[in-house]
Amino acid sequence: MSEIAETIPAGLRGWSVSWPEYTPADITPPELRPSALAECVPSWAEGAPAPTDVRDWPRRQADALVPYELDELGWPLHPQGRTGRCGRNLGRWGENAAVDPIVVAGSGPERRVLLITRDDIRMEAIPGGMVDPGETALAALVRELREETGVDVSDHQPVILGRDLVDDWRNSDHAWVASISALYLLPATVTAIAADDALDANWYPFGSLDDLDAAITAVGRTLYAAHRPLLRRALDHLAQ
Ligand code: RP5
Repeated sequence: MSEIAETIPAGLRGWSVSWPEYTPADITPPELRPSALAECVPSWAEGAPAPTDVRDWPRRQADALVPYELDELGWPLHPQGRTGRCGRNLGRWGENAAVDPIVVAGSGPERRVLLITRDDIRMEAIPGGMVDPGETALAALVRELREETGVDVSDHQPVILGRDLVDDWRNSDHAWVASISALYLLPATVTAIAADDALDANWYPFGSLDDLDAAITAVGRTLYAAHRPLLRRALDHLAQ
């Protein structure tokens, strides 16, 4: 179940529903608060203290992976409605475009998927990351995978599986993650070495989500829930 569904009653989620008592929790970390941004803007973030300081909303909305609206004050609104959280714990206000390379090797009972252990939430996740300004999604897919696992798929043509909102733990009403997920098929596993934001990189059995869960649980780890729908769709594609 999504984080949104857990925290906000379904009938109150939509932005068109009036909810005067709504008091979302501010999840802005210290380094993104306006006073801190006035001193120093982290390299991974934009400097705008509030969405009203962003000047290119029409272009951002036109480029969005998942369409969204601005409210009457000019603040971007999460496409699925209220999240229970406000502020910004991501690089940009509005949509933060990410890529998620799902790398699958082998076939039949030997089929494996490559996951990393994220260093922030310490969970098993697709080795994805944010698209850099001016970068294509294809280039970002190849770069993120290489940075986090050392695996080079620049010679491979991926199957684009979709453009989705990701139920990321950093999402708020006004800043969220949407991702392009892509499937890379390799004949066999290759050496993967964790680096950058990855604490570990491993090939897990990928016959089904149950197989994957069992293998991850067996090593005392947990699958990042936000990536479960992306992995399920990859399995559905492989079953076709
Ligand atoms: C997830 O976080 C996305 O699906 C992607 O895997 C990742 C992008 O964030 P960073 O890894 O750059 O922090 O929401």
